[in-house]
Amino acid sequence: MRLLGIETSCDETAAAVVADGAQILSNVVASQIPLHAVYGGVVPEVASRQHLLAILPVVKRALAEAGVSRADLAGVAVTVGPGLAGSLLVGVNLAKALAWAWSLPLLAINHLEAHLYAGWLTAEVPPDSASPPPLFPVLCLIVSGGHSLLLVMEEHRRYRFLGRSRDDAAGEAFDKVARLLGLGYPGGPAIQEAALKGEATAVPLPRPWLRGSPDFSFSGLKTAVLHLTLQEPPYRREDVAASFQEAVVDVLVAKTLGAAAQEGARSILLAGGVAANQLLRQRIIRDSPLPVHFPTSRLCTDNAAMVAAAGYYHLIQGDLAPWDADVMPNLPLP
Ligand code: KG4
Ligand code: ZN
Repeated sequence: MRLLGIETSCDETAAAVVADGAQILSNVVASQIPLHAVYGGVVPEVASRQHLLAILPVVKRALAEAGVSRADLAGVAVTVGPGLAGSLLVGVNLAKALAWAWSLPLLAINHLEAHLYAGWLTAEVPPDSASPPPLFPVLCLIVSGGHSLLLVMEEHRRYRFLGRSRDDAAGEAFDKVARLLGLGYPGGPAIQEAALKGEATAVPLPRPWLRGSPDFSFSGLKTAVLHLTLQEPPYRREDVAASFQEAVVDVLVAKTLGAAAQEGARSILLAGGVAANQLLRQRIIRDSPLPVHFPTSRLCTDNAAMVAAAGYYHLIQGDLAPWDADVMPNLPLP
């Protein structure tokens, strides 16, 4: 069963064709990063205008690369939230138009759920990740630019909330600290790169444990970095980057493994842009007694293959979206 997926929730215009929620037939991502980099972050109005320009060529390319036409498709899956309202509208309106014109079911996808379903895509499973599919119950850590979320996936599409960030999301902290250090945007890859030339024990940084709670908090760590950058003589920024990355990874790994043990999980799944972080991946594999799954780096950051994968499970469960489905910028998961 082949699905067309469409993703426009933030700053990537993306379309993909995926078979049976697993096999990637095409995966096209038009990144807007250079457009936003000059502002140091995503400018919503610029993002929605750019989605409008890019969406049709991106969808056409995804269909052409997969070698499919309307007759080969079983549905159209699109991200309806959470995300930027103006950006989401571009994808949702095109998905509705295509599904209506082609008499196909429309699947309304939660972007966070889509990030999780990247863990079921088999075409690009990295060699150091446990072989799919993850065993239920799965302890899931979603860490992206907008969210840091711990939850248990009991079964397909059945989620139990455990904890979230009380302030900045993990990716947001990477982006803000990179800006403080003058390392550019997006901050995650920039900090990872700078950290390679730094010493992770060189700079004393706190670990925000919030003991006894499954929640996260990253804004204090960001403020600690701000104070460091004002200090004379200044620390080497590569050392600050390495120490910051180490502190975030320490907290993410410890909380994830603690929650997995407490919940009796049988596997662990990392998802979202920050799950592309190499140190996080190495550490959790090193320390976890359970099999750890994570998508390739390219499938951790925003893409439409993960949307089509989630759409497959909506379709086989009969969860079809109505024609008046609307964007939901603050849509939660679960
Ligand atoms: O999932 P995503 O592409 O978009 C959202 O849904 O937010 O995540 C983007 C976030 C950004 O904050 C970016 O800095 C971070 O993921 N990120 C990373 C890495 N690659 C992307 N953070 C740490 N290390 C990385 N290698
Ligand atoms: Zn995302």
